[in-house]
Amino acid sequence: MSFQVTVRPSGRVFSVEPDEAVLAAALRQGINLPYGCKDGACGSCKSKVLQGQFYQGAHSTSALSAAEQKQGYALLCCAMPESDLEVESREVLGAGDFPVKKMPTRIASIQKPAADVAIMQLQLPANERPQYHAGQYLEFILKDGSRRSYSMASAPHLAEKLELHIRHMPGGKFTDALFGASEPALKERDIMRVEMPLGTFFLREDSNKPIVLLASGTGFAPIKAMIEHAIYKKIARPMYLYWGCRSRRDLYLHETALALVQQAAQQGLTLSYTPVLSEPKAGDDWQGRTGLVHQAVMQDMTDLSGYQVYACGAPIMVESARADFTRQRGLPAEEFYADAFTSAADK
Ligand SMILES: Cc1cc2nc3c(=O)[nH]c(=O)nc-3n(C[C@H](O)[C@H](O)[C@H](O)COP(=O)(O)OP(=O)(O)OC[C@H]3O[C@@H](n4cnc5c(N)ncnc54)[C@H](O)[C@@H]3O)c2cc1C
Ligand code: FES
Repeated sequence: MSFQVTVRPSGRVFSVEPDEAVLAAALRQGINLPYGCKDGACGSCKSKVLQGQFYQGAHSTSALSAAEQKQGYALLCCAMPESDLEVESREVLGAGDFPVKKMPTRIASIQKPAADVAIMQLQLPANERPQYHAGQYLEFILKDGSRRSYSMASAPHLAEKLELHIRHMPGGKFTDALFGASEPALKERDIMRVEMPLGTFFLREDSNKPIVLLASGTGFAPIKAMIEHAIYKKIARPMYLYWGCRSRRDLYLHETALALVQQAAQQGLTLSYTPVLSEPKAGDDWQGRTGLVHQAVMQDMTDLSGYQVYACGAPIMVESARADFTRQRGLPAEEFYADAFTSAADK
């Protein structure tokens, strides 16, 4: 039996089939609710259920705590209705601008700018143009049907090929194959099936607020794409980039970040770049900022009430930033946009 879900405050209504999750049903019917991992790990789809019964499927307690469940919150990516529902959720303007497609791609190149980071270029089929919002991600559909998500690292107007920045997670199925730690290794010219574009992490261009861009590790990928897009579109809002890594060699595109600052300045735009190292090594000769990247933002900005924040990378960084910026720096909760790079380890 299917159930009806009404979204508040918009009043939009959609139906959910048996065994279908609320989020999947909404996206299928063109109702663009916010989401990230689609797997109960990141919390981006958390919404209040105002009325009705539902079954909350397996999820991480960091994405939805027992206390939040008691208060009536649900993760819509893994919630199944048991009656008609009324849920409170904002819809994401622009998220449905491009059709979500499955297609074969070819690995055009793999470079290793750091020991545990690969930059992969993917060649699209000849008849496909890259269509996505800077900040969105794709999913690789692996041979066993499992999926892995990676954010596009360049803005669509620059993307003849799709650029991905992939960090090795030792013991991980996909990245062990990419880094040659398991057989068969992934290599140039291999064909990979992808689905794209996905996600609701992209610049909200209907705002005039200054922007904090916060990245940890390969979380720099979608942030880089957003900055390239903002420069291309001459978006005049001040942008403050903070990129946190462990040591100097982990800032795998430091020069690229510096070059973006130059490009922005040439267009009369304001972009600052603050790299932050959490564990600089003795040989790094590092004169810059140290510590946790989100704390560097808090040291520099005492009041975030008039800002938008876009955060991407390690789930712990994203969650700490969300909690501390909203509680201690006055950032409105709805102005914090994030993609947490969750993996099997977070579920
Ligand atoms: C929206 C989104 C965008 C992303 N974008 C990027 C990106 O641009 N760049 C990037 O580098 N990453 C990104 N990620 C993360 C990426 O999708 C993968 O999760 C990551 O690369 C690991 O994949 P894997 O197959 O190598 O590891 P997995 O097989 O998923 O394993 C991950 C880790 O968990 C451990 N593990 C496996 N199973 C278990 C278990 N049952 N219990 C405990 N531990 C376990 C493994 O040993 C490994 O260390 C993104 C994630 C999301 C959700
Ligand atoms: S999208 Fe639902 S928890 Fe990540």
